[in-house]
Formats: sequence, structure tokens, C-alpha cells
Amino acid sequence: MSTPGDILLQAQDLRKSFSLQRTMPDVLQRRPRRLLRALNGVSFDVRRGETLGIVGESGCGKSTLARCLVRLHEPDGGSLTFKEQDVLALSGPERRTYNRRVQMIFQDPYSSLNPRLTVRQCLAEALSVHRIVPASEIDARVVRLMDLVHLPREAADRYPHEFSGGQRQRIGIARALAVEPEIIIADEPVSALDVSVQAQIVNLLLELQNELGLALVFITHDLRLVHHIAHRIAVMYLGAIMEIGPTEEIFASARHPYTRALLAAVPRLVPGRRSGATAVQGELPSPLAPPPGCPFHPRCPIAKAICRQDVPGLGLRGGPWPAACHFAGPVEAPAPLPRQNISLL
Ligand SMILES: Nc1ncnc2c1ncn2[C@@H]1O[C@H](COP(=O)(O)OP(=O)(O)OP(=O)(O)O)[C@@H](O)[C@H]1O
Ligand code: SF4
Ligand SMILES: [Mg+2]
Repeated sequence: MSTPGDILLQAQDLRKSFSLQRTMPDVLQRRPRRLLRALNGVSFDVRRGETLGIVGESGCGKSTLARCLVRLHEPDGGSLTFKEQDVLALSGPERRTYNRRVQMIFQDPYSSLNPRLTVRQCLAEALSVHRIVPASEIDARVVRLMDLVHLPREAADRYPHEFSGGQRQRIGIARALAVEPEIIIADEPVSALDVSVQAQIVNLLLELQNELGLALVFITHDLRLVHHIAHRIAVMYLGAIMEIGPTEEIFASARHPYTRALLAAVPRLVPGRRSGATAVQGELPSPLAPPPGCPFHPRCPIAKAICRQDVPGLGLRGGPWPAACHFAGPVEAPAPLPRQNISLL
């Protein structure tokens, strides 16, 4: 893996709520629209050349975060800077440049590819809209992109429906690479693919990252995968980051009770680690009514009175990387977790 470098993208206290449509009972009982808090103050950075894994249960806000980063959603609050430029204030050509530099790859590439365009037309369109190369060089660049994602050159004249799922994801990656990004945000890019194809796509992304010096934000449910590929991981829960730090160290000795519970559910992820039994107790609270204090307190086996009142910000608290827990101790002595019995990821 390449060495992570300087900070490219920085999110601070990002917030995003969705105002839900009123249901018929809401209308009849004159209840106002309800707000679903998908992001509750998310802060982190993305560094040049690194892979940052983002993990968390379904509904914790991973895709909302990804969409806010590329401004497919407008955050309601907080800040986002790209190379110290205020992303949320960008408009016109500057915004287009940002969207070129920070590209997103989706779980289902088919939905983001125009079915009426051949691969060549699709790539050529991206190259010409963003004026990446002069018209005379577009064909050569298409060939280069096909080579980069290991698709046969002659496949450039086929349509998206003529490809398998894995090949379509390669086209999606080529489409993202066409505009010469510095960051790729991949939202569950392999979870819709056959297991046999998943590794090929992940390895392709890592290969491209090395070759092109890209930063990769990789969103996944798969803790084994994130362990394999990420320099750092951010663990999300109910719209907030619970812990963020170097992958190996977190897998060996997580500071946050939620991370420890997730890891306990994945057998033999780290040699010698006690594992196998369990994951997280209880139901995931609704983002329509998040609990006060620490969002994890209703499920946390070591919650104390303070946890029900005070939100623990993401902080070091004497440890080597940030965790959002009032009792995140030094890594040498994590609090033991009692055995529980619901598995999630
Ligand atoms: N456009 C929207 N309108 C209303 N609610 C939304 C919208 N998009 C997301 N949500 C809600 O916001 C919360 C976060 O959703 P999000 O898709 O970001 O989660 P996720 O972590 O990506 O989940 P998954 O792992 O299932 O993909 C969920 O409760 C979801 O129902
Ligand atoms: S702040 Fe309290 S409830 Fe939240 S994770 Fe830490 S110990 Fe558990
Ligand atoms: Mg998602």
C-alpha cells in the first residue's frame, strides 16, 4: 500500500436531515412533517493516496455521507473543504472542477451508465464535457482507459447491457477515471457482485490507486474486506463516527464499545483475537428519534449515567486515535465486553 499523504478532503460536523412525506395518519392527526437525522455531525479527513474504509450497519448514514461529499445531497450544516477550498460555497466552473476531482462509484453501475451509449461514447462524453483531452486524442484515451480497467479494447463499441455485472463495474470505474479524479468514493462497489468477481474489482481499485496515486473512500458492510484494503477505518453509528484510526490497530484493539462488538462478531479476523460469539445487543434506534446523550447508550454494555445525557464528541481522551466514547480508555486496556447475542454485519 502507498503511504498516506497530506489532507485532501476535510469534513467537519457535517449534518443532513431528510424531511419525510407525511403519511395519511399524519395528515389526519395534523402531525407536522418528521425529520430524519441521517448525519449528526460527521468529521473526518481523506488523505492523498490512502484507502479510508467506512463501515457501519445498514441505515447508519454511509451513503448519505458519500452523497454529501460529492454534493449529490446538500448538507444542512457543517463544512467541507477540498485542499482548503470551501466546497459547499463552490458554484459554476469551480464546482464542476470539484466534481471532476472527487468521483463516486455506485453499487449498481448500470444505474449510472446511459444504456443508449456505447462504452466509447460514454467515455468520450466524459472526456469532452470536462475537456480532459483535445478531440483528436479522445480515441487514444478511451483505449488507455479500457486497458487500465482490463477490458478488451474491442468491447468499447458495446452497450452496457452486453456486459456482466463485474464488467459493468469496470466500465463505471473507467468512467470515473476518465475525468482524472484525485479521490474516488466507492459506495458498496462490490456488494451486488458474485463473490468470485468481488475480489477482482477490489484488486483493480487497489491497483489503480497505487498506479494513479488516488485516494479511495471505500464504503462497505464487509469488515474482512475493509481489514484487507484500508489504511484507516471510520466506524459509523446512527449518523456519526464512533471511531476513526489505523485499521490494524483498531482491529487489534478497538477503543469504542460499538467497534469492539462489531469485531467480536467476525471470527478469526485477527489471529489470536477472541471472537465468534456475538455482536451488538438490542435494536438499532430510529434516526427519527435518536437517543439523547451517546447514540450507542441503549445498546452499550458499559453505559453509565453520563452516557444518557452527554454526547461524547469524537476525541482522543488520552488515546492514540479519536473515539466518541466517554470511557474510551488507552488501547492497552480496553474494557471487556460481556457476551451478547445478536449479529449484524
Ligand atoms: N432521500 C432520502 N429521504 C429520506 N430518508 C432517507 C433518504 N436517504 C436516506 N434516508 C434515510 O437516512 C438514513 C441513512 O441512510 P443511508 O442510505 O445513508 O444509510 P446506509 O448506511 O448507506 O445504509 P445501507 O448500508 O443500507 O446502504 C436511513 O434511515 C435512510 O432511510
Ligand atoms: S459513551 Fe457510554 S454509552 Fe457511549 S459507547 Fe461510551 S460507554 Fe458506551
Ligand atoms: Mg448505503
